[in-house]
Amino acid sequence: MNNKVAICRVEHFNAAHRLHNPLWSDEKNKEVFGLCNNKNYHGHNYELIVKVIGSIDPLTGFVIDIKTLSNLIKEKVLLRFDHQNLNLDVAEFENVNPTAENIAVVIYNILRPFINEDLELKVTLYETERNYVEYPY
Ligand code: NI
Repeated sequence: MNNKVAICRVEHFNAAHRLHNPLWSDEKNKEVFGLCNNKNYHGHNYELIVKVIGSIDPLTGFVIDIKTLSNLIKEKVLLRFDHQNLNLDVAEFENVNPTAENIAVVIYNILRPFINEDLELKVTLYETERNYVEYPY
């Protein structure tokens, strides 16, 4: 029997960003990134879902203690991202465009070392109600 269970924690943060490729002209940046290229930045209300998949520990009945997971996300992600300018305030985006795709990969890479390697990790990030990314998919 496959007794693997997914446990999810939903979190939220607000952050500003600007999508821009310094190798391109202003026109090309506008064309590709549209409003997200606005030079004075703009904000999004990001909805973050962190999913951990694994077997239930018979001693606790948990896949992972949800409090541990919640504290980990708060400490490692929300304290660093919430109410920040991702381009200017978060080192991981110094040379990486803070698209939803890249933000999800960065969050995954931040959390992965702190979660038991027997457990799978998946990050879902909503940039708007209608646009979201999953990593790994
Ligand atoms: Ni944007």
